[in-house]
Amino acid sequence: MTVYAIIGGTGLTQLEGLTIRQSLPVNTPYGAPSGDIQVGEYAGREVMFLARHGHPHRVPPHKINYRANVWALKQAGAQAILAVNAVGGIHPDMGTGHFCVPHDLVDFTSGREHTFFDDDLEQVTHIDFSFPYSQPLRERLIAALRAEACAFSDAGVYACTQGPRLETAAEIVRLERDGCDIVGMTGMPEAALARELGLEYACLALVVNPAAGKSVSIITMAEIEQALHHGMGKVKATLARVLSAA
Ligand code: HPA
Repeated sequence: MTVYAIIGGTGLTQLEGLTIRQSLPVNTPYGAPSGDIQVGEYAGREVMFLARHGHPHRVPPHKINYRANVWALKQAGAQAILAVNAVGGIHPDMGTGHFCVPHDLVDFTSGREHTFFDDDLEQVTHIDFSFPYSQPLRERLIAALRAEACAFSDAGVYACTQGPRLETAAEIVRLERDGCDIVGMTGMPEAALARELGLEYACLALVVNPAAGKSVSIITMAEIEQALHHGMGKVKATLARVLSAA
């Protein structure tokens, strides 16, 4: 049976309903992950959980030690990662509360430690990243969202920006021209690092605000928090369905 790990993003620093059996303080050659890996049972199945920003939420997107997080999960025995990400909506379909299971991404980040294939190499290694997300895992997420009667898109392009500031309206126009449908700050290099370690990886994105310039008002933290509060029940139900069906 595949060993699953969930990486919880903003709004999901704790997985309620997870019966924690162990809290593993994993150390890695890349430093400390955002927190302990919680191992326990969720939806009748053994699963690992890691809060991407720590618990409480304290590590900003550009400071997350993505290498340590992914390495620690692999070390603990994970084979597949379900990543939960809060995003802004660019495409008109991606209104607040909508879910998206992206099929592709564009990386606009800079200066993040983004590879395990850096030093002490026996040979230079290039992973294939034509299709950054695992199709079987995406299909499981899509089936679960359908069963939960969530409003969702079964494809989309995720733009990963550097943060921690939100984008300008002109930047969003540019991302839209580049074919991006949703925008977040934490999708990369996480997805690529998972691929480098041979882990299956898919993203469950929840739209928590219209991207900059896509509504008449500016983006407020209050609006984002409210959308997270409303959406997290569905996120948890969707994850539970994926795990119990897998
Ligand atoms: N932009 C980038 N990241 C985000 C956004 C956004 O509008 N909303 C939530 N995460």
